[in-house]
Amino acid sequence: MPLIAPSLLSANFLNLQADCQLLNESQADWFHLDVMDGRFVPNISFGPMIIEFVRKATNKVCDVHLMIEEPERYAEQFKHAGADNLTVHIEACKHLHRNIQQIKALGMKAGVALNPHTPISSLVDIVQDIDLVLLMSVNPGFGGQQFIPQTLEKIKALRQMANERNKPLHIEIDGGVTLDNAQSIVDAGADVLVAGNTVFRSVNPTETIAKLKSF
Ligand code: DX5
Ligand code: ZN
Repeated sequence: MPLIAPSLLSANFLNLQADCQLLNESQADWFHLDVMDGRFVPNISFGPMIIEFVRKATNKVCDVHLMIEEPERYAEQFKHAGADNLTVHIEACKHLHRNIQQIKALGMKAGVALNPHTPISSLVDIVQDIDLVLLMSVNPGFGGQQFIPQTLEKIKALRQMANERNKPLHIEIDGGVTLDNAQSIVDAGADVLVAGNTVFRSVNPTETIAKLKSF
């Protein structure tokens, strides 16, 4: 069964507590928190302050996805805000290995995110050191986009790379995950599904989470 990580980006920020409550009472495993700086991606979302509030509203894993330049400048702040997992983009890190060590030294699980154009082969010398890989299945910046089908081949290649190294690795798929494509994503070897619009724009988000969990 996959882990389900609803993205708060699609939640109601005028009543975030209600949506946190909904997720707490659902089968959601992780709270996915999308941080955007308007530089790495063409959109600005929220930062550590909001995550601090979310942290107080849940005991579930806070899975923070940094879509920002120079993430090393903020790792400590996100730790203090309550992040459990901290994922940085490979395209935003000149010294990825150092950044990963920093995240782990702060006591968080370390993740690396890849944009749709970035090949799995770019992970060969870092996969041993990390806890999760987040594969973007849309171009980062916005919720509600269409899943890019080539992602399925990337998932298979990455699972194979991890298996060859006997490396337990979370493979998290982010962007355009729906009830129609979730099965193929899980079959390809992913074990964490992020879902924003699919959960929060559905008539019954709790039920949608349960359905995603059943794939
Ligand atoms: C996009 C974010 C995603 C986004 C997913 O840049 O990283 O987490 O919220 O939203 P959906 O599931 O609506 O594509
Ligand atoms: Zn995300």
